[in-house]
Amino acid sequence: MTAPVHRPDAHIAGRAVLVTGGLGFIGSNLALRLRAVGARVTIVDALIPEHGGDLRNLDPHRDDFRIESLDLRRGPPLRRLVRDQDLIFHLAGQVSHGDSMRDPEQDLGLNCVSTLNLVEACRHENPAAILVFSSTRQVYGRPRRLPVHEDDPVDPVDTNGIHKLAGEYYHILYHRTYDVRSVVLRLTNTYGPRQQLRNERQGVTSVLLFQALRGQRVRLFGDGTQRRDFNHVDDVVDALLLAATTPACYGQVLNLGAERPHSLNEFVAALSRHCRFEVEHVPFPDDRKLIDIGDYYGDWSRLRAATGWRPRLDLDAGMRQTVEFFRSHADVYLR
Ligand SMILES: NC(=O)c1ccc[n+]([C@@H]2O[C@H](COP(=O)([O-])OP(=O)(O)OC[C@H]3O[C@@H](n4cnc5c(N)ncnc54)[C@H](O)[C@@H]3O)[C@@H](O)[C@H]2O)c1
Repeated sequence: MTAPVHRPDAHIAGRAVLVTGGLGFIGSNLALRLRAVGARVTIVDALIPEHGGDLRNLDPHRDDFRIESLDLRRGPPLRRLVRDQDLIFHLAGQVSHGDSMRDPEQDLGLNCVSTLNLVEACRHENPAAILVFSSTRQVYGRPRRLPVHEDDPVDPVDTNGIHKLAGEYYHILYHRTYDVRSVVLRLTNTYGPRQQLRNERQGVTSVLLFQALRGQRVRLFGDGTQRRDFNHVDDVVDALLLAATTPACYGQVLNLGAERPHSLNEFVAALSRHCRFEVEHVPFPDDRKLIDIGDYYGDWSRLRAATGWRPRLDLDAGMRQTVEFFRSHADVYLR
C-alpha cells in the first residue's frame, strides 16, 4: 500500500537545518528548497578541490544562508555546528568512483572519517537530531538480480562503495544505540541544475551533459545499452525532505529509483532533442571497465510505501528543464 504524500514543507518551515556539502550539486538544490519553504539553513562545506561545490550554486540567495567553511574530517569544530539543529542532511562526501580507486585513503577520509565525526557530534551534542544520509546504489556492486531490493547482497566494486557502506552502518548503528533518528537513502544517477560539469568526477550524466551542451562529440563507453535509474535532482530533494519528516523512515535504508530504467543511449537521445551533437561509441577504458556494474535499477517500493514519494519529472521533462538551466547559466557551468 502506498502512503499518501504528506507535505514536508509544513514540518520544515521555521526549523533549524544543517546541510553538509550544501555548496555542492545536490546539497545546494536542497538548501535552496529548504530556504524557499522557510527553514533556517546552515551550510557546512570545505569546497574540496575538484568536487562539485561552488558558492555560485546558491545565487542569487547566497546571503540568506549561514555558510561555515569546515572540513568534516576535523571533528571537534563540528560539535558546535550540530548543537541546535532540528534536521541534518549529510551530503558532503566524495562521489567519484575513479578517484576512490586512485586515492583510497582520501576517500576514506571524505566518506568515512567525516561521517563518523558527524554521527559522533550528534551523539554528544544533539542526540534528538534527525539525520539523513545520502548513500549510493554503488554499495550493491554488480546486481545479482533486477530490480535491486534493499535486502539484496551488498558487494561493492570500488572503495567508494565500501566507504559509503560504512557510512550507512554508522548511521544505523547510532540510530539503534543512541537513538539518533537516522535515515539512509541510496541515491542513484542524479542529474540536473547546478551539477558540476567541468570535470569527469561527477559521474556519467555530467560527462554526457557537458559534451552535449558544448556541441562536442558525445562519447559512450561500450554499446550504450547499460540501463540506469536517472533521477532529476528536484525529485531527489523531494525524497530527502520526505524521508526526514516521516518517522517510519527512521532507522531504515531505502532505495531511490525511477519510474522506469533508461539506457545510456536513451539518456543521450533525450539530450539530442535539445542539443546538436554527434555520438561515438568507444571501448571501455580499462580502469572504467574494472568498476563498471553493468545494468542497474532499483526497487524503491519501500520508500514509496513509507512516504508516497515518486519521481515527478520523467527523463524528457527533466532533460528539458536541465538544458534550459545550463543554457541560461553557461558562463558559470559550461566554461
Ligand atoms: N550525484 C550523484 O549522482 C550521486 C549518486 C549517489 C550518491 N550521491 C551522494 O550524494 C552526495 C552529494 O553528491 P553531489 O553530487 O552533490 O556531490 P558534490 O561533489 O557536488 O558535492 C559534495 C560537496 O561536499 C563537500 N565536501 C566533501 N567532503 C567534505 C568534507 N570532508 N568536509 C566539508 N565538505 C565536504 C564538497 O566540497 C562539495 O561541495 C555525496 O555524498 C554522494 O556520494 C550522489
